[in-house]
Amino acid sequence: ATSSTAMSSIKVVTIVGAGIMGSGIAQVAAQHGKKVILVDVNKDVLQKATKNIENSLHRVAKKLHKDDPAKAEQTVKSTLDNLTFSSDLHDSVKKTDLVIEAIVERLNAKQTLFSTIDSVAPKHTIFATNTSSLPVTDIGTVINRRDRFGGLHFFNPVPIMKLLEVVRTDETSDETYKQLMAWGRSIGKTCITCKDTPGFVVNRLLVPQLGEAIRMLERGVASARDIDIAMKLGAGHPMGPFELADYVGLDTTKYILDGWHQIYPNVEIFDPIETLNKLVAQGKLGVKSGEGFYNYKK
Ligand code: 3HC
Repeated sequence: ATSSTAMSSIKVVTIVGAGIMGSGIAQVAAQHGKKVILVDVNKDVLQKATKNIENSLHRVAKKLHKDDPAKAEQTVKSTLDNLTFSSDLHDSVKKTDLVIEAIVERLNAKQTLFSTIDSVAPKHTIFATNTSSLPVTDIGTVINRRDRFGGLHFFNPVPIMKLLEVVRTDETSDETYKQLMAWGRSIGKTCITCKDTPGFVVNRLLVPQLGEAIRMLERGVASARDIDIAMKLGAGHPMGPFELADYVGLDTTKYILDGWHQIYPNVEIFDPIETLNKLVAQGKLGVKSGEGFYNYKK
């Protein structure tokens, strides 16, 4: 981490939105020696993020220093020292090199946020969105520095998943793109480059697969459990499609598919799926709500 850190000129990073993705990104950046400010307007969310980061860090540190608990504790401490939690957006972007937005997936909320920080952040500051389903270009319409804006799409769980999709819009400059790639590498991720298209690479392939698995279940081909076993043992996936849908969140999965269905009403794999809609309507959202395709209540 030390040598790759030297390759990126981005030292101070502000992450806006302290949900699962935002806190994961903050944690990984802090682990790699960046000064990180994690911002959220909701103080309860910030508090929860602090706890989640600490838990996750202990798991990571234990793995890194299996036989040396003192060193593991030191890793946790030095990472936490790099992290600041704040509910003051203006103050948090005044001296930052990079702002990563990881708030709710609503276009106008993201636009409002970027338009605010565009007026406050220093000129050199780069902006990135972690959106998984909205066009990066649309989010950026409100920004003046569109040459200094792109997508940085992370995967859940951020501390474990090695990939980072770096998304270029038509207006992202070569310099910004290079800086985003270098920064991604400096926090230990393997970066791929992608055009600003729905789902980028991973979600465009993954989400329709989750949908196809649900349709397969609806056709009575096999049980959810057997389809999961099949994809794990027959295709080497770490989770089967139903486990993964529950993990990502059935509301998120539905939201992504519905968004694409609206743009491409003739593409059948994006069509609404009855079982998915029913589960979401019943509040069965997957792991986070305690039940989805599987039951997670103790
Ligand atoms: N923080 C720190 N460590 C974690 C962690 C976290 N949040 N989650 C898991 N780990 C660690 C565990 O401690 C464990 O460490 P160990 O090897 O030292 O024991 C290791 O990861 C493996 O975890 P588990 O033993 O609990 O369980 P698994 O072996 O099943 O791994 C998994 C869990 C890494 C989540 C794996 O199942 C997996 O890779 N699943 C697929 C995840 C995936 O596809 N994510 C992408 C979703 S799409 C997305 O995010 C895009 C968005 O836009 C929707």
